[in-house]
Amino acid sequence: MIRISFVLISAIWISSAQAACKAEKPAAELTIEDLQGLYECLRPDMVKGYQKKDHEIAAAYTDWKAASIAPQAPGMHSGQYLMTYINPTGYDQYIQFNTDSTAMPAGTVIAKEAFSISSRGKVKIGPLLFMEKVGMDAAPETGGWQYSGIKKNGKNLKVDAKGFCHACHQAWPGQDSLGYPVPAVRATSG
Ligand code: HEC
Repeated sequence: MIRISFVLISAIWISSAQAACKAEKPAAELTIEDLQGLYECLRPDMVKGYQKKDHEIAAAYTDWKAASIAPQAPGMHSGQYLMTYINPTGYDQYIQFNTDSTAMPAGTVIAKEAFSISSRGKVKIGPLLFMEKVGMDAAPETGGWQYSGIKKNGKNLKVDAKGFCHACHQAWPGQDSLGYPVPAVRATSG
C-alpha cells in the first residue's frame, strides 16, 4: 500500500514535470537553478500577455537589465516570485542595493514581473507592476514615485498607490522606497 502511494505520487510529479512550465518539486524545495529553468519556460508567455494592450512600459522593459539572477519570493507581494527590470536611467544606482542613501534619478522606470507556484507545482502568471520616479512635485504623497500596473492580459490594474503600494514601500526610506530582491539572487552587474 505504501509502495503504491509512493508510485502514484511520483507519477503525479513526473507528469507535471513533463507538462509545460510546471515546477518539478514543491515550491519550498526549488533551487535557484530550478527557478531559472521555470522562468525561462514561462517568460515568453508572460511577455506576450503583458504586451497585449500596447502599454508603453510593457513594450519597453524587455530591453532592460534585471536586478536579480533568478526570480525569488520575498514573502511579500502575496508570496509571488518576482523579477525586476530597471531602465538605463536607474539601473546602475539600483544594483548598488544601497540601504541608507539611495536617491534614484528622475526618469527611472522599474517593471516587476510576478508569478506564483501552487503546492502541486502549477504556475500562475501575476501582474506586471511599475514604479516611475516622477519627482516630489508630481507625486508628493508617494515619495516622488508613481505606482501603477497591468494584469497578465495587458489591461490596466487599478492600484491604490498611496494607501496600498506606498504604504508598504515607505518602510524603506534609506532605499528611496525600494524593496530590493532578496540578497541571494541580487545581480552584481548587468
Ligand atoms: C506588503 C508590502 C508591499 C506592497 C503592498 C507592495 N509592494 Fe512592491 N515590493 C515589496 C517588496 C518587499 C519588494 C522587493 C521584492 C523583491 O524584489 O524580491 C517590492 C518590489 C516592488 C518593485 C520593484 C522595485 C523595488 O522596490 O525593489 C515594484 C516596481 C513594486 N514593488 C511595485 C509595487 C506596486 C505598484 C504596488 C501596489 C500595487 C506594490 N509594489 C505593493 C513590497 C510591497
